[in-house]
Amino acid sequence: SILRSVKSAVSRSITRRGYATEPVPERKVAILGAAGGIGQPLSLLMKLNPLVSTLSLYDIAGTPGVAADVSHINSRSQVTGYAGEDELGKALEGADVVIIPAGVPRKPGMTRDDLFNINAGIVKSLATAISKYCPHALVNMISNPVNSTVPIAAEVFKKAGTYDEKRLFGVTTLDVVRAKTFYAGKANVPVAEVNVPVIGGHAGVTILPLFSQASPQANLDDDVIKALTARTQDGGTEVVTAKAGKGSATLSMAYAGAIFADACLKGLNGVPDVVECSYVQSNLIAELPFFASKVRIGKNGVEEILGLGSLSDFEKQGLENLKSELKSSIEKGIKFASQ
Ligand code: NAD
Ligand code: LMR
Repeated sequence: SILRSVKSAVSRSITRRGYATEPVPERKVAILGAAGGIGQPLSLLMKLNPLVSTLSLYDIAGTPGVAADVSHINSRSQVTGYAGEDELGKALEGADVVIIPAGVPRKPGMTRDDLFNINAGIVKSLATAISKYCPHALVNMISNPVNSTVPIAAEVFKKAGTYDEKRLFGVTTLDVVRAKTFYAGKANVPVAEVNVPVIGGHAGVTILPLFSQASPQANLDDDVIKALTARTQDGGTEVVTAKAGKGSATLSMAYAGAIFADACLKGLNGVPDVVECSYVQSNLIAELPFFASKVRIGKNGVEEILGLGSLSDFEKQGLENLKSELKSSIEKGIKFASQ
């Protein structure tokens, strides 16, 4: 869909040349952690997005080089690199969308929750700066453990008096990307046509793909569905293991992050029916104040949290199985932020 956006922008600029045009709104996107494994390819993909007019690349170090590099690409946005905390305010000022892939990634043998001790503090300080410099931005949280970092950001914003639950998103798009890819492989359908909702959270069993709702439909055996579910839940670990100590998914995550940010920009710009799965404040499941499901994104962020639809017995069981882990990850984040 990024390619589609690029192509349609190109055809718009061709067909409209010489005529009064309806301008594409100015939009500033900030990436925090832009010099990292995800940050660099994500900076590239956001530089290719014609909906972006200003691209702000922030990291503790290394961003001037990344910014100089991508700034030479002949696409719409003006790129600036900001390095070090002194420049964080400038990086954030006026941002419409802030994407956060800052923090340490897993090594083999670790869970995402093992990243909590380091990443919780990073997210807390970045969220504090967001509440000060761009409290109305849509925040796309990538830093793990997402199940806890989103509640941390919510608490920080609440304390600052800037919390708007419609503007905070945990990015679970990579789970959807994986579910689509793995499903297409087994169902023998064109991958570009595949849709699969993924609900719950973003770690192990909390990731719940709803293959019973996948389209195009295919009559897959129960054991195939079971294996597809397990592979989607373990997709992150599959990459961590293959990278053997050199980190976790970066390229597929950059792709997924770019898709999600593009959806946010389209929503802000008033494009109708922008629907993506995301981990947001939710009342779909009583005991889980944050939950991933399909959401409709519009001018104010989350316009509507869509229902879960009907679940198979296997998925109903999966939903029961994820509740306790997700609940404790949420509580851990809230507790940390309120200290
Ligand atoms: P990385 O180590 O390659 O890059 C992280 C970057 O964050 C580094 O450049 C580092 O300097 C920067 N950073 C650290 N502290 C910062 C701060 N206070 N402010 C700004 N930047 C800071 O790691 P990566 O592979 O890019 O992964 C980043 C995070 O994304 C990890 O927590 C990882 O687990 C997570 N992740 C999430 C998903 C998802 O689906 N949501 C997918 C993949 C990775
Ligand atoms: C992923 O799903 O790839 C990320 O959450 C990174 C990880 O640690 O698995």
